[in-house]
Amino acid sequence: MDQDFHRIRRLPPYVFAEVNAMKARARAAGDDIIDFGMGNPDQPTPPHIVEKLIEASRNPRAHRYSMSRGIPGLRKALAAYYQRRFNVDLDPEAEAIVTLGSKEGLANLANAITSPGDIVLVPNPSYPIHPYGFIIAGGSCRYVPVTPDADFLAALDRAVRHSVPKPIALVLNYPSNPTALLADLDFYGQVVDFCRHHKIWVLSDLAYAEIFFDGNPPPSILQVPGAKDIAVEFTSMSKTYNMPGWRIGFAAGNRTLVGALARIKSYLDYGAFTPIQVAAAHALNGPQECVGEIRAMYKTRRDVLIEGLEAAGWSVPSPAATMFAWAPIPPAFAHLGSLEFSKLLMREAKVAVAPGIGFGEYGDGHVRIGLVENPHRTRQAVRSIKSFLAGYDRVLEESEKQRAVAGG
Ligand SMILES: Cc1ncc(COP(=O)(O)O)c(C=O)c1O
Repeated sequence: MDQDFHRIRRLPPYVFAEVNAMKARARAAGDDIIDFGMGNPDQPTPPHIVEKLIEASRNPRAHRYSMSRGIPGLRKALAAYYQRRFNVDLDPEAEAIVTLGSKEGLANLANAITSPGDIVLVPNPSYPIHPYGFIIAGGSCRYVPVTPDADFLAALDRAVRHSVPKPIALVLNYPSNPTALLADLDFYGQVVDFCRHHKIWVLSDLAYAEIFFDGNPPPSILQVPGAKDIAVEFTSMSKTYNMPGWRIGFAAGNRTLVGALARIKSYLDYGAFTPIQVAAAHALNGPQECVGEIRAMYKTRRDVLIEGLEAAGWSVPSPAATMFAWAPIPPAFAHLGSLEFSKLLMREAKVAVAPGIGFGEYGDGHVRIGLVENPHRTRQAVRSIKSFLAGYDRVLEESEKQRAVAGG
């Protein structure tokens, strides 16, 4: 029996598995590991949203199969959000679809539009579903640098001139996971011009639309005139309303892409449980103070982390958005690469981070630090990172010894 499945062969082992296994072992041995490795919001969903879920669940009619595209009330709530937040008009019937989290939407849209051998332009480093959605679908990725600047546009131009066949689609993700980079409307305008000219679809992932600091709300690509000719944008309830486990996201924009996703999903699912969708609509239509509070919580954590690391001798750029700091490996440890450095940090400082290599080869000079521990725990982590860095000669010597033993 063939066990060498074509699709599975194209999925490398999960890089984070090694760090996760080490974390599990350390915890089993009684270590208190402070875990910045995950991108999983740790706070509860605001109570008014949970109450709505409970209320809607009491209605037996809501227990039936839902609608694969999402209930109309939720699609309308998304359209109203786009109108008030971005001044973008959306037709909730044809230009908006509810997904089981944006990850599902990205993966199934990739599946819907990719023919075997198609080339897709994907930033690197990136959130894994951005390349792997297309790889699972039988496509190939050509990686472009993630920086939203002239280098990016030049790389797009090179990719189109030198790829055979021509790329069918481009993935964008600003604010970016893992780098926390932001794009402005001017950049989106240039990308839209370019992709319209070359007939390339754009899939923009705006999962961190509302997790921004310093009063700088990230724009939507759909604000660019003509963007709907080629672009679809993914948004999510997961981070904005602390609803990661509820699995509600959206795709909005180009009708052909939304239609393709709706078609493929109609074969695969019956939509999220209706009460979840009712509660999600309530979240979007209801009071928004909770969003400000979630933003403020991440901002406090960010400041404690970045200021603390600076004082500990580790300079990390302060993220303007997302729930991550993208930290360059301190120079003395750079030769180790991100996986070894992450392991060392866990062993010596009892702090877990995500190695940048897990987000692609160009991520190997960095680790991702999630803003998922409270200020008290963050301060505790910063203190132990400080003593780890202060004793780095000894730490490096130890790690070289361990590597020699492991190697020989
Ligand atoms: C950039 C990005 N896109 C999408 C997702 C997935 O979000 P969802 O919960 O909506 O599937 C994440 C989650 O971490 C993310 O970081």
